[in-house]
Amino acid sequence: MDYRNILTEKKDSLFIITINRPETLNALNEDTVGELEHAFDQGSADPGVRVIIITGQGNKAFVAGADINEISTLPSVKAAQDKSTRGIDILFKIEHCDKPVIMAINGYALGGGCELAMAGDIRIASDNAKFGLPEINLGIIPGYGGTQRLPRLVGKGMAKMMIFSGMIIDAQRAFQIGLVEKVVPAGQLMEEAISLANLLAQKPPVALAMAKRSINDGLEVDLRRGCAMESSNFAVACSTEDRREGTRAFLEKRKPRFKGF
Ligand code: COA
Repeated sequence: MDYRNILTEKKDSLFIITINRPETLNALNEDTVGELEHAFDQGSADPGVRVIIITGQGNKAFVAGADINEISTLPSVKAAQDKSTRGIDILFKIEHCDKPVIMAINGYALGGGCELAMAGDIRIASDNAKFGLPEINLGIIPGYGGTQRLPRLVGKGMAKMMIFSGMIIDAQRAFQIGLVEKVVPAGQLMEEAISLANLLAQKPPVALAMAKRSINDGLEVDLRRGCAMESSNFAVACSTEDRREGTRAFLEKRKPRFKGF
């Protein structure tokens, strides 16, 4: 598929998707959402890809939200619900993909952009990044899971303050409240994201997937059931050749050479 609104790049075992509509600050219109899904499916299905990075083109915006032109012309209640459901399904796909997904946030991450960032596993922000769910100012509410993921990340009170007021916060504040994991100088963002991605790419992928499933699925259930899920996922990790290699390497005082199964 030829993409018009995104760029993709395979860099060794990393797959980098760049939202590329700088003239609208990388706003997500329906075509872009479709291309993002297609590219993400490719990256997650490719056995040679270990880690996926999502970022935005330019140094001003990661994604400044869903495309407001499209929201302004939504023809019906059903069309609005379909739009939201589609976005939610794609963000679920990103959140539950077995490979780590790093969000490299290079500027405005507003509305759908903030929601996209929250669906990733780890968020690294440039020091000029800005975050918010300003949908309230358009007479609507977040529709790509923002009312659900923001309180899970930053707590109910802070999420309500941000969603009710539409306030925009800077990268340092986002770091303080747990919305991003790291803030780096703007010029070093991709270097940092790639360096973390390369580190994760060397880890045993089945164990990584089991850790991701345990954390994601466990947070949705009570502690006892979450721990039971962890036990099952632990057993899967223990069934791998990489468990044999990792433990043997430790005992033989050498670096492990993980094979990926
Ligand atoms: N949808 C569609 N177009 C958007 C957009 C969006 N979410 N965000 C920005 N754009 C467009 C602007 O309309 C403008 O287009 P134009 O040059 O044809 O006028 C262009 O991107 C540049 O944006 P501009 O507003 O001129 O930049 P700025 O630096 O003054 O302000 C923002 C930057 C991010 C503060 C401002 O663009 C903004 O508030 N965007 C909307 C954020 C939002 O509400 N997102 C949630 C949507 S549900």
